[in-house]
Amino acid sequence: MLIRLAQKDDLEAILNIENKMFDESIYFRLSRDDIKKLLNKNSTKFFLSLNDNNEIVGYALGIDVNNHAIWFNSLAVLREYQTGEYAKELFKKIEDSAKERNFDTVILEIRQDNKALFRRYKNMGYIIWKEIHNYYPDNVGAYRMFKCFNKK
Ligand SMILES: CC(C)(COP(=O)(O)OP(=O)(O)OC[C@H]1O[C@@H](n2cnc3c(N)ncnc32)[C@H](O)[C@@H]1OP(=O)(O)O)[C@@H](O)C(=O)NCCC(=O)NCCS
Repeated sequence: MLIRLAQKDDLEAILNIENKMFDESIYFRLSRDDIKKLLNKNSTKFFLSLNDNNEIVGYALGIDVNNHAIWFNSLAVLREYQTGEYAKELFKKIEDSAKERNFDTVILEIRQDNKALFRRYKNMGYIIWKEIHNYYPDNVGAYRMFKCFNKK
């Protein structure tokens, strides 16, 4: 597995993963236009994971909010590459990207009905910051959570 930052011509591969992996009834998908705009921004950290044939099989998206916080927006891995190291390594890249640049905070949102994911983030040191009602397409609310790293 290799992880690299996305370039402009990775748009179609990212869109393919987005459309295949996100259930539109419960998550807002990124459109082609959204991805295109994101790929043009310096504040975007689009990490891609590649399989042994150099095909893009997953992505993690982080967006710098300012010069000390990154917002972890989304993570998706094609089904046949799930339950391996791909998701883990992609998420790690988001946190590493924050730490390497001496950022102190990672922010993310999760569905309030996703108890397993809530436990996972809690165990990873994330804390609830606020609740946002009707955040997802099916009107389920979100927990906005954050994790602080100690500044050196
Ligand atoms: C979310 C998704 C990437 C998880 O991939 P997976 O390979 O099934 O991941 P697993 O559940 O086997 O977890 C493996 C490791 O990846 C990491 N991981 C998985 N999902 C994660 C998430 N949502 N956030 C952070 N880390 C995650 C964890 O380190 C986990 O290790 P742990 O179980 O020891 O905590 C995959 O199910 C997917 O693409 N789903 C569709 C898109 C989606 O709903 N994304 C989530 C909302 S952004």
